[in-house]
Amino acid sequence: SIPTYTLSNGVTIPQIGFGTWQTPDGDTAISSVKAALEAGYRHIDTAAAYGNEASIGQAIADSGIDRSELFITTKLWNTQRGYDTTLKAFDESMGKLGLDYLDLYLIHWPSNGKQFSDWQTINAETWRAFEKLYNDGRIKAIGVSNFLPHHLDALAKTATVTPMVNQIEYHPGFMQTETVDYCNDHNILVQAWSPLGTGKMLTDETLTGIAANYGKSVAQVCIRWCLQTGTLPLPKSVTPHRIRENLDVLDFTLTDADVQTINQLPYIGGSGLNPDTVSF
Ligand code: A2P
Repeated sequence: SIPTYTLSNGVTIPQIGFGTWQTPDGDTAISSVKAALEAGYRHIDTAAAYGNEASIGQAIADSGIDRSELFITTKLWNTQRGYDTTLKAFDESMGKLGLDYLDLYLIHWPSNGKQFSDWQTINAETWRAFEKLYNDGRIKAIGVSNFLPHHLDALAKTATVTPMVNQIEYHPGFMQTETVDYCNDHNILVQAWSPLGTGKMLTDETLTGIAANYGKSVAQVCIRWCLQTGTLPLPKSVTPHRIRENLDVLDFTLTDADVQTINQLPYIGGSGLNPDTVSF
C-alpha cells in the first residue's frame, strides 16, 4: 500500500493522490477514477470548479471500497467565498460526492478574482466557515490552494486553526522555493498539482536521461522527485496504463545528485496561472 504523510493535526494522508483537473465529467471521470482505485490509489483530489464531483462520487460508490480507506479532497470555488456561501457550497459538494464527511477541504485560490476587491477579508470570512466545518467534525483537515506567503500571512492574522495543507503548482523547473520554505516552517504540507508540469516536462532531455538510468519514465521521475523533496504529488491522467505507471514509483530512489540536478532545471512551462492575478 501507499505510504502516508501525517498532517499537523495527526490525520494521515496517502503520499500520492489522483489528480482530476481537466478530467471531463461523465464517463471519462467515472472510468478513470475506477481505474485509479483499481490500481491502488486511495487519495482522490477534485474541486467544485472541475465539474466532475458527481462522477467521482459515483466511481467511489461503485468501487465498494470502505470509506475509511479513502482520502477525498475537494475545493471551494472562488466565487463561493464568504461565510454563508462557503457553508452552502460545502453541502453542495458533499451532495455531489455522496459523502457524509470530507477528508480535506481547500480554498481554491487566494486572490480577488472577478468578484472581490479585498482578498484579505473574503479569505478570512471563508476560513471562519472552514473552521466551523472542521470543528463540527464534517471535515478531517482544512487547507488552502495556490496561497503564496503573503496570502498565508494575511490568513494567519485571524485564523484559529492553521491550514494543514497548501496545494500549489510544483514540478521540475517550478519549485516555488519561498512558498515551500514558508510551508515547511509552519508545518503545512505542500501538495503538488501538475507534478508533470501539465505534461510539459515529459520531453525534457535532462529528465529523459535520468529516467533511462533507472529504467523508469519521465513521469515516474517527476513523481518520485516530488516525494523526495517532501511534497505530495497529484498526477492527473485519464489513461489506465499511465494511471498505473504514476503509482509505480515506490521501487526506486533518485540519488541525491539526480535530485540536485532536477532542482536546478530552468522553468520551461507549466499552467502559467499566477495566484496574484488570476481573473476567475
Ligand atoms: P492523459 O490524462 O491524457 O493521460 P499534470 O498531472 O502535470 O497536470 O499532467 C497531466 C498531463 O500529463 C495529461 O495530459 C496526461 O495525459 C499526461 N500524463 C499523465 N501521466 C502520464 C504518463 N505517465 N506518461 C505520459 N503522459 C502522462
